[in-house]
Amino acid sequence: MTKAKTAIVTGATSGIGAAISRSLVAQGFNIMMAGRRTEKLEELAAQLGETAKFTATDVSKRDDVLSLVNQANDAFGQVDVLINNAGIMPISLYSSRKVDDWDKMIDVNLKGTLYGIDAVLPQMIERQSGHIINVASIAGLQTGPAFGVYSATKSGVRVLSEGLRQEVAAQNIRVTTISPGTVATELFGTITDPAVLDVLGQGLGYQPM
Ligand SMILES: NC(=O)c1ccc[n+]([C@@H]2O[C@H](COP(=O)([O-])OP(=O)(O)OC[C@H]3O[C@@H](n4cnc5c(N)ncnc54)[C@H](OP(=O)(O)O)[C@@H]3O)[C@@H](O)[C@H]2O)c1
Repeated sequence: MTKAKTAIVTGATSGIGAAISRSLVAQGFNIMMAGRRTEKLEELAAQLGETAKFTATDVSKRDDVLSLVNQANDAFGQVDVLINNAGIMPISLYSSRKVDDWDKMIDVNLKGTLYGIDAVLPQMIERQSGHIINVASIAGLQTGPAFGVYSATKSGVRVLSEGLRQEVAAQNIRVTTISPGTVATELFGTITDPAVLDVLGQGLGYQPM
């Protein structure tokens, strides 16, 4: 029997990350789920069984991400796959001056992805094996009003991912970028700009990317 592989899933609390976690366990992976809302992770882990564990993680904090990888190593021996899925989308008009939301998107979507790469890459290089999957967005390929900063972060994820792919391909480490279209999740709950919420409330556009 081949040894089960281990994957880390960031943003496993809800939406796409929770669905990925369920799917990986069904395929025989050990998983370490990461997110801030531990009560939801605890609930999901209880449903998934003993091959699913979780760690409270804020991906915008480098120490949290290093600790996440250490805990996955301790629990399962090594990390074969990292899925950098955590993300937020507090889109806003530039004129609304939601600079705090710009900072948060850069911290979670961009820096969080980079911290994950940094934390798993040494062991993957040492083993000459591994897979890093970064979740970008169709909004990283196209943009529109209110989406500028979110699109910039997701475009950034796509580009940093491609640079990594080219760097580590010869070391047998695979790098994949996923750019999903619209998926019905909690992502729109991160929006704080009344101008955008008004438009959404009227059903006049701003379709999720
Ligand atoms: N839904 C779409 O239409 C769509 C389209 C394209 C791309 N995407 C991308 O897909 C990914 C997953 O989003 P989703 O649609 O599944 O939305 P979601 O249900 O809101 O899930 C986002 C996840 O990210 C986690 N997260 C947010 N901030 C975090 C932080 N600082 N540290 C750790 N985890 C954090 C959340 O967990 P906690 O709150 O517990 O931390 C949650 O588990 C995101 O990167 C998103 O940009 C979504």
